[in-house]
Amino acid sequence: MRILLTGTTGQVGGGILPILQARAHVVAPPRSGFDLSQPETLAAALDQINPDLIINPAAYTAVDLAEDEPELAFRINEHAPAAMAIWAGQRGVPLIHFSTDYVFNGVGDKPWREDDRCDPLSVYGKSKRAGEQRIAAAGGSHLIIRTSWVYGAQGKNFFRTICRLAAERPELRVVADQIGAPTSAHSIAVAVNEIAARSLDAMRASFAAADGLVHLASAGATSWHGFASAIVDGLRAHNIQTKALRVIPIETSQFPTKAARPYNSRLDLGHLQQVFGISTADWQAGLEREIAAFAKLSA
Ligand SMILES: NC(=O)c1ccc[n+]([C@@H]2O[C@H](COP(=O)([O-])OP(=O)(O)OC[C@H]3O[C@@H](n4cnc5c(N)ncnc54)[C@H](OP(=O)(O)O)[C@@H]3O)[C@@H](O)[C@H]2O)c1
Repeated sequence: MRILLTGTTGQVGGGILPILQARAHVVAPPRSGFDLSQPETLAAALDQINPDLIINPAAYTAVDLAEDEPELAFRINEHAPAAMAIWAGQRGVPLIHFSTDYVFNGVGDKPWREDDRCDPLSVYGKSKRAGEQRIAAAGGSHLIIRTSWVYGAQGKNFFRTICRLAAERPELRVVADQIGAPTSAHSIAVAVNEIAARSLDAMRASFAAADGLVHLASAGATSWHGFASAIVDGLRAHNIQTKALRVIPIETSQFPTKAARPYNSRLDLGHLQQVFGISTADWQAGLEREIAAFAKLSA
């Protein structure tokens, strides 16, 4: 099977690449060879690559910057996936795409189900939601995987920021009123590999059974403050030097950002279990693995 995988310099794409390469022919073009900011070029590039399956983790992910660059965010997160979905739909090629908890407004404390109403708060969330809608409208076989709070020992993410700050500062102040499930890029990659290990026909059948949409995140939930505290504890347990003696909980209002974030980012994982038979581990188990990987990298 010939798989087009985008975004391999990013967290999720970079996590998927080595796992898929072990069993399939993966084409992973650099941004210059498959540029999502030029959606009008993608059909010709797809003709050349001629994949049997498309997996698209590439996205515009700069949540705050998107408030100032809405046109670019929509080009990459709406128009590019739309172009891919139209090409794929016309040829019966299944498409796996990624989306986000930021399509929800974060009100309440129930985990969001796939069929809950979307109401994104930010340009980024709106652009990702628009991408979801365009893929569904294209009518081909597709699976949109919404995930949350992605991190890993490598890449630019909250985990790496806390590791860096913990080495520099005696005190960290971290938002405690946003709740979600930290999800390692590795755990996403493992689940995606399981989903994509089926034959193309079985994949099409499971995507149809999922109605094209599934939530995939770690089990359990915490706040950014809870996550940061667990990271600092984990660094200490691995004898990684840290100056951080205190992790202080603060409110979102004390850490203003350009883009609004949902308070409640919990994703319901029932659909993932029912349709794909996948149960994800608790976020703490994922963190343990990433701390160990980080310890190895910093040794
Ligand atoms: N990060 C999170 O917390 C989070 C949470 C929920 C959902 N998601 C979703 O999960 C997916 C993967 O996210 P991630 O964390 O892996 O993102 P990431 O680490 O920011 O990586 C984004 C990838 O997209 C590529 N890209 C950006 N603009 C591009 C363009 N114009 N043409 C081609 N490639 C381009 C980047 O390439 P360059 O290296 O060239 O920039 C990079 O490989 C995305 O759909 C995101 O919306 C992420």
